[in-house]
Amino acid sequence: MKQMDRLRETMRRDRVFDFVAQGRYPFSGRRSVTPGVVDATHGPILYLENITVSFDGFKAINNLTLYINDGELRCIIGPNGAGKTTMMDVITGKTRPDAGTAYFGQTMDLTQMTEYEIAQAGIGRKFQKPTVFPRHSVFENLELAMATNKNVWPSLVATLSGEQKDKIEEVLQTIGLSEHSHLPAALLSHGQTQWLEIGMLLMQNPRVLLVDEPVAGMTHQEMDKTAELLKNLAGKHSVVVVEHDMDFVRSIARTVTVLHEGSVLAEGTMDEVQNDPKVIEVYLGE
Ligand SMILES: Nc1ncnc2c1ncn2[C@@H]1O[C@H](COP(=O)(O)OP(=O)(O)OP(=O)(O)O)[C@@H](O)[C@H]1O
Ligand SMILES: [Mg+2]
Repeated sequence: MKQMDRLRETMRRDRVFDFVAQGRYPFSGRRSVTPGVVDATHGPILYLENITVSFDGFKAINNLTLYINDGELRCIIGPNGAGKTTMMDVITGKTRPDAGTAYFGQTMDLTQMTEYEIAQAGIGRKFQKPTVFPRHSVFENLELAMATNKNVWPSLVATLSGEQKDKIEEVLQTIGLSEHSHLPAALLSHGQTQWLEIGMLLMQNPRVLLVDEPVAGMTHQEMDKTAELLKNLAGKHSVVVVEHDMDFVRSIARTVTVLHEGSVLAEGTMDEVQNDPKVIEVYLGE
């Protein structure tokens, strides 16, 4: 009898747990929470609050508070060592903060998620060193990128569905490589390789794209195209760009955040931050 009661109690708890997980339990909070779905209804899609990251006592990130709005294109600038890449490491789960909170939408606690879970949840990151498959064509690279999405894998083993082909065509167009879709990735220019990598991220339908120094090593023409591409992606995605090239930043910037010694030094339009005496002193005046 006792055993039955215990079983019933467990089942009841599990039911409640299920309901809470699905956000249907009336006492689970004010908001309706759907697991895996980003809740950006309050505006921001990324919330970093009072984040600190120490390396052997040195604070690479120091009480950093920063919000990224849903669909915006944000530029992050700052001198070498300001903590820009470390900030991206925190968002993607590569580095755990010593203090502070990091949320994706209002409900997903990034500090409790693995790198894989964060990527699956919709935060894509472009690294400086491209990770394309050189002997595969541009098209195949995009196909492979789609395959890393576990939900798509089973159908991909058979043949691509019309929908999947359309998605690849759409991404090819977005990154401006439609005409090179059958070219092996090894034959692409440096700039084209970077765009392909952005395309590979897009195959996963990310809500947020983090790009660290996207135009390093690019020609002026490639930079202009990259600016168009990133501007085009904003709105559909939230795009966070870390970049040192000020001409490039000026060409895409709406809101610019200046990091210095692991904290926000200034934030505003390019003109505002450029004329900020604090910024001139530590960075732009160099
Ligand atoms: N794994 C690590 N171990 C120790 N120190 C680190 C580590 N990663 C970063 N740092 C230090 O933290 C500080 C911030 O580094 P970070 O790479 O975030 O700067 P950044 O703003 O991206 O600079 P850059 O513009 O040069 O790319 C630097 O002083 C760096 O040396
Ligand atoms: Mg960096």
